[in-house]
Amino acid sequence: MSFVMQPHLRVVGGGAPERDFRADLHAALSAARRSISPKYFYDARGSQLFDDICELPEYYPTRTELALLRRHAGEIAALAGPEAELVEFGAGSLRKVRLLLDELARPACYVPIDISGEHLAQAAAQLRRDYPGLAVHPVAADYTQALQLPTGPRKAGMRLGFFPGSTIGNFDPEQALRFLRMAARVLRGGALLLGADLVKDPAVLHAAYNDSAGVTAAFNLNLLARANRELGADFDLNGFAHGAFYNSPRRRIEMHLVSRRPQRVHLDGQAYLFDEGETLHTENSYKFSVDSLRALAAEAGFAPGPVWTDPNRLFSLHWLAAPA
Ligand code: AVI
Repeated sequence: MSFVMQPHLRVVGGGAPERDFRADLHAALSAARRSISPKYFYDARGSQLFDDICELPEYYPTRTELALLRRHAGEIAALAGPEAELVEFGAGSLRKVRLLLDELARPACYVPIDISGEHLAQAAAQLRRDYPGLAVHPVAADYTQALQLPTGPRKAGMRLGFFPGSTIGNFDPEQALRFLRMAARVLRGGALLLGADLVKDPAVLHAAYNDSAGVTAAFNLNLLARANRELGADFDLNGFAHGAFYNSPRRRIEMHLVSRRPQRVHLDGQAYLFDEGETLHTENSYKFSVDSLRALAAEAGFAPGPVWTDPNRLFSLHWLAAPA
């Protein structure tokens, strides 16, 4: 693993995200059941569209989690103690962490990790302006890969991981377990504060992923626009529709790009056929019960601690103690 220094931003990993996208898209299009990782949503445009989703009236997770953080940040800060090293996985626009930073006693540093380097660098610059005394060390990386933090020797405080937004739900169960095991190693002796969306009325879930303004559709279709922009593919954006539904036996929202007609798509001179109704599966968003999430965390070695939920039990926030 290599660190590439840029002003105020470390880029970690192979450093060839375009090659990964190209190879993964070829693999997806060649498969009998076509699916690709949702991590490819998050170029600069996709990150902006995701921020827009978070403001939608139908998309309850963000505002519900923010309310939980606002209500319980004092309690969380007391559990973390002074001089904590705060590490955020999949940091995005760095909005939620402010509620923790406002309560934590003299945080030693803040390490936001995100795959979208450009978006992260901008958000980190704004955070530095708003918290002048805080050491902010952004890392542009795929945090699902092996991770080494740029924080140097451990100081007095605990290392507190922050994984909000129910991003854990975008992993398949095995990937979620692998991520939690990695987090347990990175946070050894500290804790993970994790947000997890809860199982609920499918109509509420359906609305959250099929918003009336069409922002989620634009977010989904941006994956094809990105393939055209970055890889020279020739997806006709009008030839695909956004599809999202709740798969209740598997407790997950599935997002697909659905071919509206029989069509041929080209990538690097290779033609791929789509029948009408055939899909490219772009995302799963698993939903949890409080107990299922705690069981998963325990399987990864965490000791589940306090859980905070809203009165409607839409969303949950978990304190998970990492093994020593
Ligand atoms: C980032 N992630 C937790 C979101 C979710 O709800 O699964 C991504 C998203 N997809 C569509 N809307 C939001």
